Amino acid sequence: MPTYRVRTPARTYEAVIERGILHRVSDYLPAHAGTIFIVTTEDVWRLHGDRVQTSFQNRPVKVLFFPGREERKRLAEVESLAEQMVAEGADRTSIVVAFGGGIVNDLGGFLAAIFMRGLPVLQIPTTLLSQVDAAVGGKTGANLKSGKNLIGAFHQPLAVLIDPDVIATLPDREYRAGLYEIIKCGIIRDGDLFDLFQNERERILNRNHAVLEHIICGAVRIKAEVVSEDEKESDLRRILNYGHTIGHALEAETAYVRFLHGEAVAFGMVVAARLAGDAGGLARREVERIAEVVASYGPIPSLEGIDPKRLFARLASDKKTLQGKVHFVLPVRIGAVKVVSGIPEPDVIAAIQWAVERYSADRAVA
Ligand SMILES: NC(=O)c1ccc[n+]([C@@H]2O[C@H](COP(=O)([O-])OP(=O)(O)OC[C@H]3O[C@@H](n4cnc5c(N)ncnc54)[C@H](O)[C@@H]3O)[C@@H](O)[C@H]2O)c1
Ligand SMILES: [Zn+2]
Repeated sequence: MPTYRVRTPARTYEAVIERGILHRVSDYLPAHAGTIFIVTTEDVWRLHGDRVQTSFQNRPVKVLFFPGREERKRLAEVESLAEQMVAEGADRTSIVVAFGGGIVNDLGGFLAAIFMRGLPVLQIPTTLLSQVDAAVGGKTGANLKSGKNLIGAFHQPLAVLIDPDVIATLPDREYRAGLYEIIKCGIIRDGDLFDLFQNERERILNRNHAVLEHIICGAVRIKAEVVSEDEKESDLRRILNYGHTIGHALEAETAYVRFLHGEAVAFGMVVAARLAGDAGGLARREVERIAEVVASYGPIPSLEGIDPKRLFARLASDKKTLQGKVHFVLPVRIGAVKVVSGIPEPDVIAAIQWAVERYSADRAVA
């Protein structure tokens, strides 16, 4: 079974990709642990909970449900879950298992990070996006009214267990949103992975088992490597933000309702490819190839009404903006990127305008 080691100063752990691993969750928990608190959502538990539950056999388990929507990824919910844990007798021997999409991974991880000053957490991501991104790397957190993920902690898990079988029940739009983050991994670090997206579109969209496992492994390997070299995003880890400078601005500009995160990143990747072409590093035909491959996994919601100037103004308020400078991760070729700052406003606006036109209403999701 493919296993990738994540080495950070805080902890070394494994991300394991294996069909059916939900049956063996218990193997990854310390034998003498106390009560296991599974944080999940009702939909995920209904679809896949029985397998996790049976894997625990006679160990003490409590299931805590969380509504799971982005507007509920808040400190109030963390507090409510913590109160439930206390009521159920949690102590320092307890363990948290975060079982769900990225919201559950982030919030469950954050709960574990701060409950009694820190309990171990096991991450079991169930969306494609969370399998390839959110669950690996130890970033946990919640939203403030004033912005997404503005509070949180680095809290590395005991392990990350990835079962590609759970992807079968994922709605199509959520599935494609996850694919964009894998395409991102190809562009930043693995040209062969990107080529696969160009050549195997049908099998990827049909969720062919072998191809799905292959692309999940590709993305997890890259995330594990990058996080191992740079846990806290001082330098190398920033390459994972390819497409995210514009993507975050687009999500904020549309109040987090029009686009899924991956869809906003898809748009951001196309803008950044164009910027990379303008700046001279990336060949024109590669700019087109990125734009076309990304679009071929669409559609994404319409960009109609998006004002490039307003989007640009959003960039300055992004939490990833350092000392007032907007950074872009730009490909120098497919498979390698560099971080660039100080791109003039008119150039950024022109690239946004170009991408907005490509994503006109005819490619819109209903
Ligand atoms: N910590 C990080 O490094 C990191 C990275 C990327 C994203 N994130 C966070 O992740 C969140 C987005 O995560 P997401 O895209 O997984 O969305 P999500 O957690 O909202 O899940 C999407 C929906 O799919 C449902 N679902 C989950 N698994 C399913 C399955 N197997 N079958 C059917 N339905 C299923 C969920 O209940 C939910 O309704 C955001 O809050 C984002 O900030 C964190
Ligand atoms: Zn992302």
